[in-house]
Amino acid sequence: MEIPFAESWKIKMIEPIRKSTREEREKWLKEAHYNVFMLKSDYVYIDCLTDSGTGAMSDRQWAAMMTGDESYAGARSFFELKDTINRITGFEYVIPTHQGRAAENVLFSHLVHEGDHVPGNSHFDTTKGHIESRKAFAIDCTVDEAKDTQLEVPFKGNVDLNKLEAELAEHADKIPFIIVTITNNTAGGQPVSMENLRGVRKIADKYNKRVIFDSARFAENAYFIKMREPEFKDATIKEICREMFSYADGMTMSAKKDGLVNMGGFIATRWEDWYEGAKKYCIPFEGFLTYGGMNGRDMAALAVGLDENTEFDMLQTRIKQVEYLASKLDEYGIPYQRPVGGHAVFIDADRVLDQVPKEEFPAQTLTIELYREAGVRGCEIGYILADRDPITRENRFGGNDFLRLCICRRTYTNNHMDVIAAALKNVYDRRHEIKRGVKIVWETELMRHFTVQLEPLQ
Ligand code: F0G
Repeated sequence: MEIPFAESWKIKMIEPIRKSTREEREKWLKEAHYNVFMLKSDYVYIDCLTDSGTGAMSDRQWAAMMTGDESYAGARSFFELKDTINRITGFEYVIPTHQGRAAENVLFSHLVHEGDHVPGNSHFDTTKGHIESRKAFAIDCTVDEAKDTQLEVPFKGNVDLNKLEAELAEHADKIPFIIVTITNNTAGGQPVSMENLRGVRKIADKYNKRVIFDSARFAENAYFIKMREPEFKDATIKEICREMFSYADGMTMSAKKDGLVNMGGFIATRWEDWYEGAKKYCIPFEGFLTYGGMNGRDMAALAVGLDENTEFDMLQTRIKQVEYLASKLDEYGIPYQRPVGGHAVFIDADRVLDQVPKEEFPAQTLTIELYREAGVRGCEIGYILADRDPITRENRFGGNDFLRLCICRRTYTNNHMDVIAAALKNVYDRRHEIKRGVKIVWETELMRHFTVQLEPLQ
């Protein structure tokens, strides 16, 4: 008999979780204005809201916490972190920040100005927010294949090089840099190929532009390159990372994902002028240059986390769990962004709730239904998250409308995956009864999905 695949770790510490009743959940949903961000986590049985800062640290990371150096300046933990980042990325200059959006804020304060265009592949919402709040424009150049959820292509996160080149040809003078998000979260945790990264570099060089990687899930991206690009089948994850980053000039990082820590981020670059420019904003926004918003102990744990998560076994365990959940959904016929991505399953809500009009936010409606069914909290990555067009103030219905089910790193077992899948199947089986969605009763101008207040339409 073939020995089955199993996790490359065992569990040393546990945290109890609690089931609730449907009546309780109905009451809590109402109190939360039907926005799952407003639910207390105690009201959640299985939390798939995000994979950001929600993973379990290893014994080595907890041990590193104890050796963290809390010196205000010149902390040893900073240099441990910097050395690790140098080794994995090849970038010489490092600025720690408290999380990914802080890295964006610090670096974009230096680089993005009113009227600029920043082309990229499905900018994440905080990235878009930091561009648009500076009265600049995030230009989406994702490949069209990403829109068709049923199309099986290996690198659906790619930049469309023709769109990118057209944007550069027209607006080169307004473009401070190109940003490539690896993996492409908004398109479904979809990877970007090495070939595509090389293509972006070539175009950038032609127009004398620099490239930033939004690197939140860079290690997962490297895993997919190894598995799907034959040239890299024998390469180590660390070798693949070095080559990926060789095509960039700098990176912003949310260490809460592939850094395997609960809080943290950084900027890294090969350019002294970017480092000097960002430094000016790090000190007032984040803190002194050798801690920039992080505790010494957290930098120490991050140094270990980056090393652990650029090893094949760790990534294989993680991505196989996401694939396991996807295989259950295949069994039940539930449509999602195919092939499944690295950190989450993105359910195609438009297809599931095909009677709910766009204006009533199908993915948000499905998110609510799944929570109501079994206390499983997902997250809308769809029309609410897309915000309104900054000029017309119309809702942006041009992209996909997903219910994202994120899988936290090293946190849940496959039994939990079975619960998520069964809950979703129950909702799927009664999808024809769901004809109305929700309406917005209160929203903010930017990044509205975190705090939006909704009412069900019955
Ligand atoms: N870039 C990407 C691709 C992200 O997915 C995130 C966060 C950020 C930047 C911002 O990083 O949260 O540390 O400030 N994504 C989380 C998510 C919130 O749920 O996908 P942050």
